[in-house]
Amino acid sequence: MNTAIEKLLNDQIRYESKASLQYLAMAVWADQKGYNGVSEFFYLQSEEERTHMTKLIKFVIERNGNVELPSLEQPKSDFNSLPELFEHFLESEVFVTEQINKVIFECLDKKDYNVHNFMQWYVTEQLEEEATARTLLDKLNIVGDDKSGLYLFDRDINSFDQKDA
Ligand code: FEO
Repeated sequence: MNTAIEKLLNDQIRYESKASLQYLAMAVWADQKGYNGVSEFFYLQSEEERTHMTKLIKFVIERNGNVELPSLEQPKSDFNSLPELFEHFLESEVFVTEQINKVIFECLDKKDYNVHNFMQWYVTEQLEEEATARTLLDKLNIVGDDKSGLYLFDRDINSFDQKDA
C-alpha cells in the first residue's frame, strides 16, 4: 500500500476512534441530565463510529498495511444545552467528511482504485450522518427554550426516520 494512503487511513482510524469516544461522552452527559432518548442516540452513534474504525483497521490489514492504534484523547464532556451538544455533533461529522475527502483525493492522485472503492461506503455514510445531525439541530432550533418541546424531542429522537433526515 502507498505510504501516504496508509498514513491517511491510519489518521482516519484515529478520527473514527475519537468520534466514538466523543459520542460516548455526549451519551454520558445526556444520561446524567435525564435526557434518556438523546443518551440512547449517542450510545448508538458511539457504537457505529467504533464499527467504522474497526472496518478501516481490517481493511488496512487485508491490504498488508500497518495499523497504528491511536492513544485516547480526553473528549469534551460538558455542554450548556442540547443545541450545543448537537452543534458539536454536526461539527464532528463535517470534520470527518472533510478528512474522508482527503483520502479520496489521495486515492485518485495515486491511482489506488481499490482504496477509492472501499472509501465510497464512508462517503455515503457521511452524507447520511451529516443530514441527520443537521435535521436534529433544525428541530432543536424550532423548539428553542420550550421545555415541553425538549421533552418531546428527547422522547421521539430515536423514532425519527434518520434516512429521511
Ligand atoms: Fe464515522 Fe460519522 O464518522
